[in-house]
Amino acid sequence: MSASRDQRKGGCCGCIFSLGLSAVLMWLWIHTSDPRCSIQTLSLPSLNGASNITADPTLSLTLRLVNPNQIKGIQYDPLNVTVYDFPNKSNVIGNILMPGFYQGYRKKASKLGQGTANIAVALRAVSDNGTGVFRVDMATAVKFKTLLRYSKRHRIRVGADVVVNASGVKVDPKGIRLRSMAPKMGSSWVVLGALVNFLVFTLLDF
Ligand SMILES: *[C@@H]1O[C@H](CO)[C@@H](O)[C@H](O)[C@H]1NC(C)=O
Ligand SMILES: *[C@@H]1O[C@H](CO)[C@@H](O)[C@H](O)[C@H]1NC(C)=O
Ligand SMILES: *[C@@H]1O[C@H](CO)[C@@H](O)[C@H](O)[C@H]1NC(C)=O
Ligand SMILES: *[C@@H]1O[C@H](CO)[C@@H](O)[C@H](O)[C@H]1NC(C)=O
Ligand SMILES: *[C@@H]1O[C@H](CO)[C@@H](O)[C@H](O)[C@H]1NC(C)=O
Repeated sequence: MSASRDQRKGGCCGCIFSLGLSAVLMWLWIHTSDPRCSIQTLSLPSLNGASNITADPTLSLTLRLVNPNQIKGIQYDPLNVTVYDFPNKSNVIGNILMPGFYQGYRKKASKLGQGTANIAVALRAVSDNGTGVFRVDMATAVKFKTLLRYSKRHRIRVGADVVVNASGVKVDPKGIRLRSMAPKMGSSWVVLGALVNFLVFTLLDF
């Protein structure tokens, strides 16, 4: 009789272990993080008032995109980057559209994009010594891929303020993280909570 009790206990431990393992796998399956996005480089035409206004109006920037997910690939729609004056965002200085692409899990990518700047707007946005602050926004939509299945399309809107010097070059050599303007939803935490509840109630049933 006591042997069968021990057996039952052993079975129980195995159950708890496999439940725990399933919970971890389910967590990895359900939990999705948005890609992390930052601006590595940004260059505008020279914004020094003394420089030639008919200078090359090329606007170029490098976006760095990181997929932080463990088992999910990301399919990006075209990435729409808009550079505005600051802080009003009332005038568009330039727009860059980068093609969409697929990014495997835990992969990093750097994408260089170019557009044409409206120099008149840019010049109005800088101070006398030619330095200026610009608002850079990026809008796209992504689908997360798990094995063979894609999730629904999920919109992403992020942005950051970028300081450029009189040569129209981003001053900070480090990447600037683009952050979401919408309040973050704790949906994954709700799911984790539900999983923990499920586990606790299943164990109480023993
Ligand atoms: C401005 O650039 C144009 C064409 O690049 C050139 O013809 C003109 O001489 C330049 N003006 C000044 C003041 O540098
Ligand atoms: C890119 O974003 C800007 C600003 O939101 C918008 O005006 C423009 O239409 C967008 N372009 C595309 C191709 O979606
Ligand atoms: C921002 O907008 C306000 C009102 O719309 C305007 O008075 C102000 O000059 C603008 N500032 C810049 C830097 O464009
Ligand atoms: C340029 O001017 C701005 C504001 O007028 C000031 O904050 C900044 O320190 C100046 N930068 C340089 C390099 O002089
Ligand atoms: C602006 O920054 C770039 C890169 O750091 C540098 O090469 C350039 O000389 C700077 N221009 C001015 C006017 O400070």
